Amino acid sequence: MNADRIAAFYRWIEYVAFGKALERRRFAFLSRAALSRRVLILGEGDGRFLARLLALNDAAWVDVVDASGSMLALARGRVPPPAAGRVRFHRRNALLAPLPGDGYDLIVTHFFLDCFSTDDAARMIARLSAALRPGGEWIVSEFQEPSGRLARLHARLWLFVMYAFFRLATGLTADKLPPYSTLLSAAGLVIEEQQQARWGLMVSQLWRKPGDTA
Ligand SMILES: C[S@@+](CC[C@H](N)C(=O)[O-])C[C@H]1O[C@@H](n2cnc3c(N)ncnc32)[C@H](O)[C@@H]1O
Repeated sequence: MNADRIAAFYRWIEYVAFGKALERRRFAFLSRAALSRRVLILGEGDGRFLARLLALNDAAWVDVVDASGSMLALARGRVPPPAAGRVRFHRRNALLAPLPGDGYDLIVTHFFLDCFSTDDAARMIARLSAALRPGGEWIVSEFQEPSGRLARLHARLWLFVMYAFFRLATGLTADKLPPYSTLLSAAGLVIEEQQQARWGLMVSQLWRKPGDTA
């Protein structure tokens, strides 16, 4: 996937399609980041979550990984100067390149796991889980196919349109949602809370890696 071409318009495409609904999903568990000291954000996009995190937490060190240079440039532009020394940007394919660190208190993936096939998502989740400290948290925002006939039909239509759009605009090869909740559980994570929106099309989840909570 190459998001460079859509980076400048990404937020406007999102607002036209969903208003502020995705924004509400991203920020649903933001308060959990208030005390985090080491944060890893994968597939951050244009930096809107990063900016809110830095406004909330003036002590966190943040690694931001994204394959798109244009997305990273937008994200860098949203970092207030006093926080600049605490944020490191890494342009890399998170599937292939090493992660920038380990022992993170918090991992954040907003609408990122949906970019991968089931096999790739499983590999990604296993790597990320290994980089999270015991007791650490993982905030996930994603699309999903809810149960219920009408809600599922509504979600399938949106997913069809979105995968078609991203295939054309960015060359995305994944064509359906990976079973990310099953994969996160299989990697040993435990779900603590979740909030759904838009007839169940979108979900925010808070996961925890069992172990030391200090
Ligand atoms: C659908 S956008 C989501 C952006 C943002 N997190 C949001 O909430 O809207 C997916 C982002 O993940 C990045 N991405 C996709 N595949 C990637 C990979 N293999 N390695 C690193 N970044 C990737 C894209 O460049 C893009 O910025």
